Amino acid sequence: MNTKLDPWSSSNITDYSKLFEEFGISPFENVLPEIPSPHMYMRRKIIFGHRDYEQIAEAMRTGAPFSVMDGFMPSGKVHLGHKMVMDQIVWHQEMGASAFVGIADREAYSVRGFSWQKCREIGVEEYILSLIALGFKPDGLIYFQSGCGSVKDLAFELGAKVNFSELSAIYGFSGETGLSHMLSVATQAADILQPQLEEFGGPRPVVVPVGPDQDPHLRLTRGLAGKMNMFRVEEREDVKTGRKYLSVRGKAAQKEALQELKKRIPGKVKLYEEHIDVLEYPDLSGLEKLVREVAVEFGGYAFIPPASTYHRFMSGLQGGKMSSSIPESQIALTDDPKEGAKKVKKAKTGGCVTLEEQKKLGGKPEECSVFELMLFHLIDDDKELLEIKLECLSGTRMCGSCKQLAAEKMHDFLKDHQEKRELAREQLDEYRIIYKK
Ligand code: TRP
Ligand code: SF4
Repeated sequence: MNTKLDPWSSSNITDYSKLFEEFGISPFENVLPEIPSPHMYMRRKIIFGHRDYEQIAEAMRTGAPFSVMDGFMPSGKVHLGHKMVMDQIVWHQEMGASAFVGIADREAYSVRGFSWQKCREIGVEEYILSLIALGFKPDGLIYFQSGCGSVKDLAFELGAKVNFSELSAIYGFSGETGLSHMLSVATQAADILQPQLEEFGGPRPVVVPVGPDQDPHLRLTRGLAGKMNMFRVEEREDVKTGRKYLSVRGKAAQKEALQELKKRIPGKVKLYEEHIDVLEYPDLSGLEKLVREVAVEFGGYAFIPPASTYHRFMSGLQGGKMSSSIPESQIALTDDPKEGAKKVKKAKTGGCVTLEEQKKLGGKPEECSVFELMLFHLIDDDKELLEIKLECLSGTRMCGSCKQLAAEKMHDFLKDHQEKRELAREQLDEYRIIYKK
């Protein structure tokens, strides 16, 4: 069966295992041991999948340059779901990444019909203030897509490498889809590739932490990264002898670039009109690195396909899904702390109907939205969380007091966060923010 992942619909993705099979997302567990001190979401399996995260883990270990990139469509209130993404951006920044955050005003303009003025207001008031309050450091770059010339230029170039059939296969676009909506998709690909432009230090691993609904963008962008590059390195096999060798294809490359590359590759090579066969170079990633260097020297692109991580969504506080159209289902980072605490107290638990039953049978933390809040946001200490879980399962923990604790923690978090937002407002000038002119 074909699962369509649509970033603009609000349907929830429940069966994550399909993503592994159908879209080639790898289980996160595989890279976990390679990460120096994994983020809480990684340890708790909230981040369940990735593409190419190995290169990010390696950069963190070796100190090689890498970046984290994410975008937010300025559509409404900033809430706990956004906090999840922001936490991951900030964490990668702490681990040494240079950070890029795009406010996707082109997407909001084309998909939601918002004015530029409204995009700016929501962008600053909701997203940027909370991002800074959550610890984003001033050396990162924040930009509105419509104010960022390099993103817009790159988006146009990327547009030359994708046609309508591909877009409709990925997104289900039809004859009714507006041109700007399609452009916003190219703009998003440009967001993701921008950190690898020369002005930002050239090709490097970039990670984009997202929910699984955003994966179509990543598939598109990873494909485009390859199509934009001056050279493509492929593994080939000699039909006669069965010997494996590497081949560098450079259809759009200048003759001089191919010649220069030939000079630099050690061992036996053969230069053809549009490609070089490399017969004695066993190290694929070493060759790729060399090829990138030459491409960049000759003014071409040499994008590394962006890496990504995928996190589970929280469910709604009342069960079901979290949705902006149901305010009680979620907590906004700007909710009055008292209101936020109230929402926690009204949330659906995994407890039994009567206290007696609960004492006998225990609760079901995996079906409890209060437990989810603690797991995703409120309790940093793994041991403390595990204790809560065990107490719940064994029936020694009662929902009333448990909710009370979570409500208090939520209250304190919101109060603290909102104070930090006000500080952030005063610090905005210290940040690199590119607004629409
Ligand atoms: N499409 C994303 C959203 O709906 C926003 C976005 C824009 C984005 N550019 C991005 C996400 C780049 C990740 C990477 O919120
Ligand atoms: Fe949820 Fe706490 Fe009740 Fe367990 S005791 S079901 S974790 S509210």
